[in-house]
Amino acid sequence: MRPSLMRSTFQLLRRRSYSSASGQPERKVAILGAAGGIGQPLSLLMKLNPLVSSLSLYDIAGTPGVAADVSHINSPALVKGFMGEEQLGEALEGSDVVIIPAGVPRKPGMTRDDLFNINAGIVKNLSAAIAKYCPNALVNMISNPVNSTVPIAAEVFKKAGTYDEKKLFGVTTLDVVRAKTFFAGKANIPATPATNSLSDEDIKALTKRTQDGGTEVVEAKAGKGSATLSMAYAGAVFADACLKGLNGVPDIVKCSFVQSTVTELPFFASKMVILVHLFLFLLCVDGFSWFVQLHG
Ligand SMILES: NC(=O)c1ccc[n+]([C@@H]2O[C@H](COP(=O)([O-])OP(=O)(O)OC[C@H]3O[C@@H](n4cnc5c(N)ncnc54)[C@H](O)[C@@H]3O)[C@@H](O)[C@H]2O)c1
Repeated sequence: MRPSLMRSTFQLLRRRSYSSASGQPERKVAILGAAGGIGQPLSLLMKLNPLVSSLSLYDIAGTPGVAADVSHINSPALVKGFMGEEQLGEALEGSDVVIIPAGVPRKPGMTRDDLFNINAGIVKNLSAAIAKYCPNALVNMISNPVNSTVPIAAEVFKKAGTYDEKKLFGVTTLDVVRAKTFFAGKANIPATPATNSLSDEDIKALTKRTQDGGTEVVEAKAGKGSATLSMAYAGAVFADACLKGLNGVPDIVKCSFVQSTVTELPFFASKMVILVHLFLFLLCVDGFSWFVQLHG
């Protein structure tokens, strides 16, 4: 083992504390944009997750109320609310996973470019704070358009000298959730369907419905926002996978928009395995794997 790696491994063992009740490592999760349409149900779902010991809820407004409300739920995670830029550092410090649903959602008639113009600046500032206060955290980017906000975060982290391509994820889990739901509904089956149970035409139609799922919700909400509840569920599923991966649970396979070499594009949505092996954080993307040190 390289001396630098050994040093980090010992640091990790020294710094990581374990909950005496569950025997699980203590894990801090921060949600940026926690008072929003996605942020609130996501805060609720993360409060219910037994792997979370500390839940940090940050927004530019409204977080004291959300934090007070969620904190009354009798699950182990300790909840704290933070509001305004001056509290962002404290909200982030020591985080293992940072989930970002901050920004504005798509309204009818808005394109993804319109979204980009607003959300790019928000994500840039939040990423700079992550680089400063919790550079080792796994970042789960929800703010749209994910295929732009993830590269923006990557550039901010590169500039700060903290970029680690294995720790930056665009959350695409909602597409997977929708595909599973639509597929099971069409095939009239409750669980994971057999792949050959639908015709090519069915599969084409289901693919289109999954691709158009966001617009279906935007139109149904008629000007009052985009998918929030299903997105919160999908975000919670992905964050749970990250926590399990960090805790060394094997066979954590998920899809995510990550830096990739599978096409000529620098980032691509890929199937990945998140796991920890012998104190190394290993991310395997579509058959390619890299080793990085697990953060302490
Ligand atoms: N990845 C996906 O599949 C997916 C799906 C649905 C929505 N989204 C995206 O998620 C984002 C949030 O959607 P929503 O419906 O929750 O919107 P929302 O407007 O209800 O909530 C956004 C929250 O972000 C907060 N915010 C704004 N600027 C901030 C900043 N600088 N720091 C911290 N918080 C800030 C707002 O105060 C608000 O509470 C949007 O960009 C939306 O397009 C992504």
